[in-house]
Amino acid sequence: MHFSFGVVVAAFVSSCLASPGYLRLDVHRSSSSERLIRRSDDVDATLNQNTNKLEYLINITVGTPPQNLAVTLDTGSSDLWVPASSSSLCKKGKCDEGSFDSSKSSTYTVVEQGGFNITYAAVGDSDAGDWATDTITVGGSAQIKQQQIGVASSLVDQHGVMGVGYDTNEAANDEPNGVYQSVMDNMVSDNIIARKAYSLYLNDLRSTQGAIIFGGVDTTKYTGDLVALPLQAGQTGNVSEFYVTLTGVSYTDHTGKTTQLSPDGYAQAVLLDSGTSQTYLDDDTFAAIANGFGAVNDGQGDFLVPCDFTNVNGTVNYAFGGDGGPTVSVPVSQVIGGKAFSSENFDDASGGCALGFGPPIDGIAILGDTFLRSAYAVYDIDNNVAALAQAAENQTSTSSIEVISSGTTLPGATFTASATGTQLGGAAATSSPAVPTVSLSGTTMILAGTPTFNLGVSQVTSYSPSTITKTATSSGGAVSGAAPTAALLGMGLVAGIHMAM
Ligand SMILES: *[C@@H]1O[C@H](CO)[C@@H](O)[C@H](O)[C@H]1NC(C)=O
Ligand SMILES: *[C@@H]1O[C@H](CO)[C@@H](O)[C@H](O)[C@H]1NC(C)=O
Ligand SMILES: *[C@@H]1O[C@H](CO)[C@@H](O)[C@H](O)[C@H]1NC(C)=O
Ligand SMILES: *[C@@H]1O[C@H](CO)[C@@H](O)[C@H](O)[C@H]1NC(C)=O
Ligand SMILES: *[C@@H]1O[C@H](CO)[C@@H](O)[C@H](O)[C@H]1NC(C)=O
Repeated sequence: MHFSFGVVVAAFVSSCLASPGYLRLDVHRSSSSERLIRRSDDVDATLNQNTNKLEYLINITVGTPPQNLAVTLDTGSSDLWVPASSSSLCKKGKCDEGSFDSSKSSTYTVVEQGGFNITYAAVGDSDAGDWATDTITVGGSAQIKQQQIGVASSLVDQHGVMGVGYDTNEAANDEPNGVYQSVMDNMVSDNIIARKAYSLYLNDLRSTQGAIIFGGVDTTKYTGDLVALPLQAGQTGNVSEFYVTLTGVSYTDHTGKTTQLSPDGYAQAVLLDSGTSQTYLDDDTFAAIANGFGAVNDGQGDFLVPCDFTNVNGTVNYAFGGDGGPTVSVPVSQVIGGKAFSSENFDDASGGCALGFGPPIDGIAILGDTFLRSAYAVYDIDNNVAALAQAAENQTSTSSIEVISSGTTLPGATFTASATGTQLGGAAATSSPAVPTVSLSGTTMILAGTPTFNLGVSQVTSYSPSTITKTATSSGGAVSGAAPTAALLGMGLVAGIHMAM
């Protein structure tokens, strides 16, 4: 079995009733084109869809008898919805993690036909259909009856989603019926867990398995202190999402030298969002990182660096909550991925890879998977707290899971940080960070600028001092990181990498 269900039997309960425990599930990865952050209906998002991004999924079942499917685990939204087998996307065989056939479930009940519609931040990214209730199981064990779910027949995303955020962020919250009991609410009322709190361990980029523990903390999955941070109000003025206060960003190079990238007095509210692949920081801090690596804007929503930079020994460090707060250091190898101009397309080993950072989305700074993989994060909805620590990568033991009981304490966590942060505000939505755009110079495509960080000699020499020029070997669909830049490849142009030192 790939899950474990921990139950602590209370010594004082003579009736043999179990007290709440925890529910641990493996989280597996797949790649997809999604960027999940539910957007309010009045925001005009101007996002490019990216492909080639990783997504984190959990196994669930829906219906009686149970139908298996995997859904994307998303801390940035709050609804559970599944793709309908009858949708045209699923009929085309694109629902590779499973779909739900309501006609085959004896416990299926429609709540509101056509009432479900969730819109995520990417342009045109909405999934719609019916509100319904049915029996679900999470991780194959805990059974929840009459769970409200969305069943999407009009699909953009080929995987369903389990949002594990605040009820006030449910897609139904502006409808007459209002908010409903989420999966986590039902886990609490069914005595599966004591509190609406969970911990999330995405694990190393190259590892295929992480874990989520509803109602528990695994003390073997982090190093140093696990420090609780008060959640910050979102754009509505209330706490309804996982905003914590980022108080410093720096880069440590292979010699151990650390350079501060954020300005003095920095205190930025940032959203922890497992449904977002990359990390989006305020313009200045983002530009300092992008220019540090000599990244160039590909004009398609990605910032490119040579793929060889995955070998750079350095870390991007995030400090939270001011004095007494945690620091999470993210190795460079964890943030570069998603080949955009790669050896698959050109006849040499050099290529451009996406640097896992960008400027704000809709005026929001987001710490997505390119941050979260290096963090152990505990989300406590009942107490408006998120606790962070440095993740211990590739730990497989499950013997040290501690139950989160009702109340306010979190196993292993200290409450030493209290700094508050401000939202970026709307102006930043039209940001234009000072990062050069990918350019064509004659027959040469310039994929990298001049790094301001000391990235280490061995990485740099292969691109220096002269331009490397290679001929494209394929002409169609060659740019996998984004819509093909037709002008580039269609015209049989030549790609190369130039890195001035
Ligand atoms: C998830 O479900 C798939 C398909 O049913 C199965 O192959 C896989 O082993 C499951 N993974 C976990 C972690 O349970
Ligand atoms: C869902 O809502 C979005 C945004 O309001 C809209 O564009 C889309 O057409 C809706 N989908 C359906 C099937 O009603
Ligand atoms: C974790 O495991 C993966 C392989 O599963 C490996 O590539 C990676 O280097 C490991 N990470 C660490 C930090 O040991
Ligand atoms: C914020 O919370 C207060 C108190 O619970 C509530 O009265 C108010 O309506 C909420 N505001 C928004 C925008 O949700
Ligand atoms: C990076 O660190 C590893 C392990 O310490 C070492 O083997 C490798 O040579 C280093 N690479 C560079 C470019 O410094």
